[in-house]
Amino acid sequence: MLIPNHIVVEVREASPILDIVQDHVRLRKQGRNWVGLCPFHGERTASFNVHPGKGIFKCFGCGKGGDVIQFVMEIERWDFPQAVRFLAQRAGITIPESGQESSDKREPLYNALRFATRFFHSQLRNTSEGHEAGRYLTNRGISPETIKRFGIGYAPDRWDALFQAARAEHIKPEILQAAGLVVARDRGGYYDRFRGRVIFPISSHVGKVIGFGGRRLFDRSDTPKYINSPETQVYHKSRVLYGLLQGKQSVRKAGEVILVEGYTDVLALHQAGVENTVACCGTAITPEQVKLLSRFANRIVLVYDGDTAGIDATKRALETVFAQGVVASVVSLPAGRDPDEFVRESGPEAFLKYLQDRKEDIVKFIHGAALCHGGLNSLESVAYHAEQVLRLIVNLPDPLLRQLYVRRVSAQFAVPEDQLTKKLKQLHVPAQVPVDVSAQSPAVVLMTVPEMALLRIMIEHGGPMIEFIMGRMNPGEFSEGSARHIVERLLALYKEQGGETKAAIDRGMLMLDPSANHVLAHVMMDEYQPSKNWETKNIRVPRINEDTRRVALDAIQQVKIKRVNERLEALKRTIVQAASGSEEQMRYQAQLLDLLKLRRELKSGGYFK
Ligand code: UTP
Ligand code: MN
Repeated sequence: MLIPNHIVVEVREASPILDIVQDHVRLRKQGRNWVGLCPFHGERTASFNVHPGKGIFKCFGCGKGGDVIQFVMEIERWDFPQAVRFLAQRAGITIPESGQESSDKREPLYNALRFATRFFHSQLRNTSEGHEAGRYLTNRGISPETIKRFGIGYAPDRWDALFQAARAEHIKPEILQAAGLVVARDRGGYYDRFRGRVIFPISSHVGKVIGFGGRRLFDRSDTPKYINSPETQVYHKSRVLYGLLQGKQSVRKAGEVILVEGYTDVLALHQAGVENTVACCGTAITPEQVKLLSRFANRIVLVYDGDTAGIDATKRALETVFAQGVVASVVSLPAGRDPDEFVRESGPEAFLKYLQDRKEDIVKFIHGAALCHGGLNSLESVAYHAEQVLRLIVNLPDPLLRQLYVRRVSAQFAVPEDQLTKKLKQLHVPAQVPVDVSAQSPAVVLMTVPEMALLRIMIEHGGPMIEFIMGRMNPGEFSEGSARHIVERLLALYKEQGGETKAAIDRGMLMLDPSANHVLAHVMMDEYQPSKNWETKNIRVPRINEDTRRVALDAIQQVKIKRVNERLEALKRTIVQAASGSEEQMRYQAQLLDLLKLRRELKSGGYFK
C-alpha cells in the first residue's frame, strides 16, 4: 500500500529532525550542526551529526545518514511506511487507509476551494454589491495590491450564490459540503456558509487554498464578526497560519516571525512591509503551528493586547512555544489596540519602531506581569515567578542559551545563579540514553569529489545553479548510481518548479531513493571537507560563497576530464582488438584524436570559452 508522495512530503515537513533525534540522542550545538553520541554504534566521542536546516543526520563513525524518515527507520528498525506512519501520527497528520484513494479524495476539495476563491474574488471586482465590499476594504486602508496578493473576495448576501455558480461548473454539492463551503439543510438542500462577507482565503504554506475566513461587512448585524471554515479533510485550523504562504520568504530571511491575532493585522503589516507576520485563525497558538514556524525561523515575537486577558493569553502562548524548544519574545501593545489599528493611526514606521523598542524577552515579561499582578512583594512570589521562567527555558535544546537565560533571571529577580541552575537541573527530564547497536559498515560513496561539489552547489543554490551546471553537462556524465539518480531528480524537480526549486528541495520534495538520500547526507554535511583531497590533487576547494560559478566550472572540468579519460581508455582497448589497418580501426583512431583534442581543450579551459 503506497503512501502518496504529497503526504510523505507533508510528514517530513512536519517532523523537525532535531526533535525526533533528540527523543533518542542528547545533542549539543556545534556551528550549524548538532552533535552527539551515535545511537547506531558504540562510541565515546561524538561523531553523530544533525543538521536541522537541511533536515539530515550523519554519523562520521559508522557512516549512517539520511533524512528524518530514515532516522526513524534505522532507530526503530522499521520499514519506510511504518516510519512515515509513526511520524504522521506524531504530527497529527492522518494517513488514509488506502493511500491512493485518499489523494484522489482530497483533490476535488482543492478544486472546489480553488473555484470558490475565484468566484469570491470576481464577485468583489465585478458586482455592485462586491464594489461596496471593495469600498469597505479601501476605507480600512487595504490596497488593491494587497487584495490581489491575498486573493481577497466577497461572498454575496444570498443563500445560494456560490452553490448555484458551482453547480453550473458541475461541482457536486457533497464536495462543496466536504470543503466546508455549503451547509446541508435538515429538510434537504444546501445553503452557502459564507454570505454577505468579505472573504479571506486561507492557504497552506505550500500554496493551496484550504479554507476561508469571512468578515461581516458592517458591524451592525447580530451574526458573529468572523465565520471560519469548519475542520475538513484539508483544513485543520490547528496546523495553518494565515499569511505564512505570503510571508515565508521574509520569515526565513529575518529568522524571526511576528505572530498577531487577526487576519486584518496580517494584511496591514504585510502591506506596511512587515511581511514576516502571521496569524493563528481564531485559536491560541498550537504545538503544530510552532513546529511549522520553527522550520522557517527560530524566534517568534508574540504581539499582544496589553490588558490582563492579553497577558494571560500570552503566558499560555509562551508555554506552547517554549515547550517546542523555540524562543519567543513579546511586545505589548497599548491596551485595546491591535496592530492593524496601530499601523493605520500611527503609520508603519512608528509601528516598527514600537516593535523594536518594546520587544521584551520572557524574563522581563514575566517579571513585569508579576509586578502588575501585584506579585513579587514576598520571597515566595519571587521564587515562584523565577521558576516560571525556568519552566519555560528547560526545554530549550541549547545549553548555552539556557545558561544565558539563567543569568538574566538571576539579575532580574535577584536570585543566586547557582540556585537557579540547580533548580533547572531538577526540572530537566533527561533524554533517553543512546542504545548501542553493532557498528555498521561505512557508507560507500561512489562518486568523485568534484561530483560531490557539484551536487552540493545545486542543492544549496537550487534553480540558477542547476541551470548553470546542467546547461554544461548531461546527467550521463555523473557516476552511475546515487550521483546520477540525484542529478536526474534535481533536473526533474527544476523542470517542475523552476524558480521555486530551492524551496522545493528544502521542503524535501527531492524524493530520493533511500541509498541516495544516505549519500546526499554525506555530501551535504558541513564536516565533509573536500579540501584535503582537493589540495593534494591541486583542485580548487569549493567554498560555495566565494565564487560559486567559478567553483562549479572547475568541478565540471574535472568531471569531464575524468569521463574523457575513461572513454580514451576504453577506445584504446577496442583499437587494439580491431584488425590492424581495418576501416573500423581507422574510425576508432579518428575518434581517439577527437577525444585527445577535447581533453586538451578541457585542460586548457578553452572548452568553456
Ligand atoms: P478581533 O475581534 O480582534 O478582530 O479578532 P480583528 O482581527 O481585529 O478584525 P477587525 O479588525 O475587527 O476586522 C481577532 C481574530 O479572531 C478571530 C479572527 O481570526 C480574527 O481575525 N475571530 C474573531 C473569529 O474567528 N471569530 C470572531 O467572531 C471574531
Ligand atoms: Mn482589528
